[in-house]
Amino acid sequence: MYQKDLFKDKIVLVTGGRSGIGYAIAEQYIDLGATVIIASRKEEQLAEAAAALKCDYKACNIRNVDEVEALADYIKTNHSRLDILVNNAGGQFPAPAELINPKGWAAVINNNLNGTFYMSQQMAKTFFIPQKHGNIVNIIANVFRGFPGMAHTGAARAGVENLTKTLAQEWAEYNIRVNAVAPGIIESSGLETYPDQIKAFFDEARKANLMKRFGTVKEVANTVMFYSCPLSAYTSGTTLYVDGLDHLAGNGMAMYATMKKMIYG
Ligand code: ADE
Repeated sequence: MYQKDLFKDKIVLVTGGRSGIGYAIAEQYIDLGATVIIASRKEEQLAEAAAALKCDYKACNIRNVDEVEALADYIKTNHSRLDILVNNAGGQFPAPAELINPKGWAAVINNNLNGTFYMSQQMAKTFFIPQKHGNIVNIIANVFRGFPGMAHTGAARAGVENLTKTLAQEWAEYNIRVNAVAPGIIESSGLETYPDQIKAFFDEARKANLMKRFGTVKEVANTVMFYSCPLSAYTSGTTLYVDGLDHLAGNGMAMYATMKKMIYG
């Protein structure tokens, strides 16, 4: 639906681009003419994904500021410029809040909140601010009414949503736009990582959704394309929910209830 050469001559970095939503985002940018670099922690799988996509890649743990700086250096050396950053990398595990230990809490905050900040700051300093143009899209989650069962990621993603608003204002003078996409439950490889009982919950949640389905990775990618192209030129600091209305009408406690039954019986 987008013009075939919409991102011609654009250099795009997608973190967490080796699978799931990130892969679909990278794939659509490539289809629309962009030069794409995918980044992720696990070099072997990342290289495989890059070979399938026919794009560039660089292994990087977004929690590590030295690796983030090295990624910026790599892009500067090999591509000279960066136009669009998609902060998609992240991860979490389901657990009731009382059972999240400090290490698990710190890991999720570090990954989803700190990693997104390190990437945004580094790419702004190296590219977007000196260039006087840039575009950042942060992939968050449906945290509109909290995130029962995943308190750590709820807090981190809400932090990223607020960061989106701050950076959008601070960096508007450099012609940098910053927006966020909040996917609900998306049919993707990520769903396979959950235990069987949670997968059974997903089957129920699919029926309970007002649109009677989950979203697709393509639907998430479509909104990322919108935010990072001139169609949304006057829009910054906003969040777009791609969740079939779950942020308004979904039962946010359903997954938590399933999890509690699994743990406490
Ligand atoms: N994907 C999930 N966690 C990541 C991390 N810390 N760095 C890069 N990609 C990731």
